[in-house]
Amino acid sequence: LADRTGRRYPVARVGEIPDGGRKIIDLEGRSVGVFRVGDEYFAVRNRCPHEGGPLCLGPTTGAVVASDPGTYEWSRAGEILRCPWHGWEFDLRTGASWFDPERVRTRRYAVTVEAGDAVDEPRAELYAVSVDDEYVVVDLGR
Ligand code: FES
Repeated sequence: LADRTGRRYPVARVGEIPDGGRKIIDLEGRSVGVFRVGDEYFAVRNRCPHEGGPLCLGPTTGAVVASDPGTYEWSRAGEILRCPWHGWEFDLRTGASWFDPERVRTRRYAVTVEAGDAVDEPRAELYAVSVDDEYVVVDLGR
């Protein structure tokens, strides 16, 4: 659990980001958006691969999927992020674009929830960490 890459950052206390909400922070000089969907967290770079728009300021939505021809279902609520500039959509879970998932993606980062006593000391300077709480930790190396 200990930091081996030196690129793991506690960015929020669990519960600080409401369900459906987000927090945008600067890590190592880049802007990163951390999103909460239910009990899961996702992190993506706040820069759209289209023309560099502030992707993480866009609305989140879901997807309409066809389970059978003519049968449509609303799913993935809150897991699709739409760029505020021209509307390109990205899957928060993978970083892949909705329209061309193999070729167009935004950078995503691994997010874990960890107890305060597992969070690395040097990184705690970025965000005050107490051993009694749990934290959302973004790993820029993964
Ligand atoms: S800059 Fe994001 S869709 Fe154009």
